[in-house]
Amino acid sequence: MKTKRIAVLASGRGSNFQAVIDAVARGEIPATCCGLVTDNPDAYAIERARTAGIPVYIVAYGSYPSKEAYETALRRVMEDLAADLYILAGYMRILGSGIVKLFHGRLINIHPALLPAFPGLHAQRQALSYGVRVSGCTVHFVDDQYDHGPIILQRTVPVLDGDTAETLAHRVFDAECEALPAALALIVAGRVHVEGRHVRIAGR
Ligand code: GRF
Repeated sequence: MKTKRIAVLASGRGSNFQAVIDAVARGEIPATCCGLVTDNPDAYAIERARTAGIPVYIVAYGSYPSKEAYETALRRVMEDLAADLYILAGYMRILGSGIVKLFHGRLINIHPALLPAFPGLHAQRQALSYGVRVSGCTVHFVDDQYDHGPIILQRTVPVLDGDTAETLAHRVFDAECEALPAALALIVAGRVHVEGRHVRIAGR
């Protein structure tokens, strides 16, 4: 069977990307990480890719005359990678509807809250200011609405008295590092099936 190819899109630190690299290296996701795509030439994720010998594709938003030109370049890079899965792991731009449509079913996002609660930026700050007792992370397929598509896995963490956005983010982050590789392993194993909004996981 052909080894599945996983491409990661990241804009910053890339710690979720690192979690994927490590899980692949440990053999927990039987796949290859075929490329890092970033919109940020200064992303630390680039270092992580180079250390792991993963090709880097920089599609810097600022070097294109328009959003359309940027999206066209990004789409080409993504198509050329011919990945089975494209993971948005801290990719800080909203993908255009053309890309979302083209890669439908192969685009996955990780969000640091229990969707549908607290979509968008500063999820941990939103969770704290709402006063929830439990938060966590969500791995989901991407659809045409932001932070919205069918949910593959969620992991919960407690919100503790005295938490700040940073302490909560740390706890959520540990959950993210576990949830994203786990979700990818299930998909690569062919155990994930989407029925409308629902994701069925075979053998559960
Ligand atoms: C993570 O919290 C992820 O859930 C969110 O952006 C953050 C990225 O962090 N989408 P990193 O770049 O993986 O370190």
